[in-house]
Amino acid sequence: MGARRPLVAGNWKMHKTIGEATAFVREFAVLAPDFEHVDAVVCPPFTALAATHAAIGTLPLGLGAQTMWDLDAGPYTGEISPEMIVDCGATWVILGHSERRATSGETDDDVQRKVEAALRFELTPIVCVGESALDHAAGRADVHVVGQTRAAFADIAPSDVARCVVAYEPIWAIGSGTPDTPSSANAVMRAIRGSVAGLERARILYGGSVKPENIGAFVGQSDIDGALVGSASLDPRSFAALLANASAAVAS
Ligand code: PGA
Repeated sequence: MGARRPLVAGNWKMHKTIGEATAFVREFAVLAPDFEHVDAVVCPPFTALAATHAAIGTLPLGLGAQTMWDLDAGPYTGEISPEMIVDCGATWVILGHSERRATSGETDDDVQRKVEAALRFELTPIVCVGESALDHAAGRADVHVVGQTRAAFADIAPSDVARCVVAYEPIWAIGSGTPDTPSSANAVMRAIRGSVAGLERARILYGGSVKPENIGAFVGQSDIDGALVGSASLDPRSFAALLANASAAVAS
């Protein structure tokens, strides 16, 4: 295993009630998941964070939120502050997911402020970057994601950048059933790693149609340190299989 321990993060998006989230944790725990070689995190909706935290108990399963606001408090109807997330037991937060950039108009500047806020609250940000199908077809994937990465980490000290996680998620691969190829993703991720001081030590995940069957091929690449997984993270057996197969890939 390399210096960067693999991480498998489940992004549950707008799925699971409190009851469903806690049932997931119960069912996942009895599957004897492999935590020895891989770190694992689940990111439920805000409404299920506190209950999921309670259900996790002493299981070494991390808890993350799917977004947050960058200010501590104030007149921001419907928003959730970093402190509120921490209060629910989360220690991770996904920032700048392409679905939020698309549906909530999150900009690179917003993401940068959120990265700073997360670090201030000792939350580990999982910063998402990724190119559209158009940019991919035009051969502009590297340029696009390097621009997003540099913007997200502007004015952040390299020692803080090293504490963050980046998720490279080509937009066209998310939920499509058509992932990028491991070698093509690895090439883009090598460009991401070289774009900001500190990222050589940070974990960079691939995301976009990752399944138990293909996670090993991604994690086996030199610059892929795990995966951010949507639909295949919703079922406890599938999530446990993602961990097992990621673990087997780094052990081999
Ligand atoms: P997917 O989603 O695994 O369902 O493609 C990934 C993501 O959006 O984080």
